[in-house]
Amino acid sequence: MNLKATGVYIACASIHGNTLKACEKLKEILEEKGASKVVLTDLSREDIAEAVENCFKYSKVIFASSTYNMEMFSPMRNLLMDLKEKNYQNRTIGIIENGTWAPNSAKCIKEVVSTMKNINMVEPIVTIRSTLKNNDIEKLNELAEKIL
Ligand SMILES: Cc1cc2nc3c(=O)[nH]c(=O)nc-3n(C[C@H](O)[C@H](O)[C@H](O)COP(=O)(O)O)c2cc1C
Repeated sequence: MNLKATGVYIACASIHGNTLKACEKLKEILEEKGASKVVLTDLSREDIAEAVENCFKYSKVIFASSTYNMEMFSPMRNLLMDLKEKNYQNRTIGIIENGTWAPNSAKCIKEVVSTMKNINMVEPIVTIRSTLKNNDIEKLNELAEKIL
């Protein structure tokens, strides 16, 4: 029996808000493409326990994070470590990263997620440089197509 909710959950760790804007755009695209439900959490400002709950609730999850000292931003790391401790598995996952001079959060997210069982990683991984550009919107469209 599959108890997971249909729809997509987007967990976003954004320092200044640009990654969050990209996630809001992705939410809009997913809804336009007919996603039954899209839930977006700003991990810097919302309850981490609810984020963990949503990661378990939805079968399709997007992890989005800005790069912070060549790592993922700490709210994303906290979420992923929590999920790993809880043996998180069996999900379809997409990744968005943001960075100004050397984006690296996708690599860091992938490193953690690749240790989880039965994860279907969806391409493309979307890389944003500081702010969302038209090219990035094309990539967000591709990601939305693939994850739905
Ligand atoms: C303390 C700090 C460390 C950062 N480290 C990196 C880094 O290692 N590599 C990089 O490309 N950008 C780095 N950045 C830049 C952010 O990733 C970049 O501004 C990004 O657009 C932030 O997205 P946001 O608006 O969603 O927070 C750093 C920014 C801050 C404030």
